[in-house]
Amino acid sequence: MSTQLEQTDDETESEAEAAAESPGQRRRREKADRQFGEREAEPEPDLGEDAVLLKVFRYDPEVEGKQEPRFDEFRVPFTKGMTALDALIAARDTYDSSLTFRHSCRQAVCGSDALFINGRQRLACQTQIAELDGDAVRIEPLPHQEVVKDLVVDMEHFYDQMEAVEPYFQTDETPEGELEEQFQTPENREKIKMSTRCIWCGACMSSCNIAANENEYLGPAAINKAYRFAMDDREGESMKEHRLELIEQENGVWRCQTQFSCTEVCPKDIPLTEHIQELKREAVKSNLKFW
Ligand code: FES
Repeated sequence: MSTQLEQTDDETESEAEAAAESPGQRRRREKADRQFGEREAEPEPDLGEDAVLLKVFRYDPEVEGKQEPRFDEFRVPFTKGMTALDALIAARDTYDSSLTFRHSCRQAVCGSDALFINGRQRLACQTQIAELDGDAVRIEPLPHQEVVKDLVVDMEHFYDQMEAVEPYFQTDETPEGELEEQFQTPENREKIKMSTRCIWCGACMSSCNIAANENEYLGPAAINKAYRFAMDDREGESMKEHRLELIEQENGVWRCQTQFSCTEVCPKDIPLTEHIQELKREAVKSNLKFW
């Protein structure tokens, strides 16, 4: 029969190939056969009803065939308290080690895993799977940023804008002699308290329509950082003037159209829009002249 004949031909061919290979090649082939056989024999994990379906954005500009953006689906077992970051890690470790995303602290402190999850900017480590709506969890990189690979975006522009407002403590005068602790009143501390919570995740910038266009708008995070120092009494009046000049420029506070999207998505609940508005008022006051 033809099938038997084909099998016989195949067998003869593989026997000839096997005879032609060196002992080293044979060992490698047998090892690969064993591993492949074991993998094939692995039963499909039974995820039951408690599986989470992830739809994850994929893109790799360096690998042929992966340059076209697409969504890959992964089903991972749900565990109590599971976050979107836990689910991504499970998908990567179980199915595809090339799945790329940033994360570090896993407790909403480092700001490295801001993603677009079910249509909203969120920290993956702070997002409970159980609290998301829908049958699937859709995970994408932060919108309005250039994608480097999969869920990783280029943060260069965001960091440049943060640097532009000089995000460090400066004073009018440096005390002479040994440096001492600079005390702050409880009231002043209370005033800047929320602004100090920024973790540089970039969620606000990604949500802002004004910053979305390719322009030089400083963006909510940088302006909030400026607020944090401009409102700190310890810096002094001259330094405050300098800071107001920085945020008053063409791409500063006046570009904000008070849409509140930054405030809505901020994972640290910073009243970003309020801070921008307050800086606008401060800038106007500092420009008033009385003759
Ligand atoms: Fe650090 Fe989420 S991993 S903020």
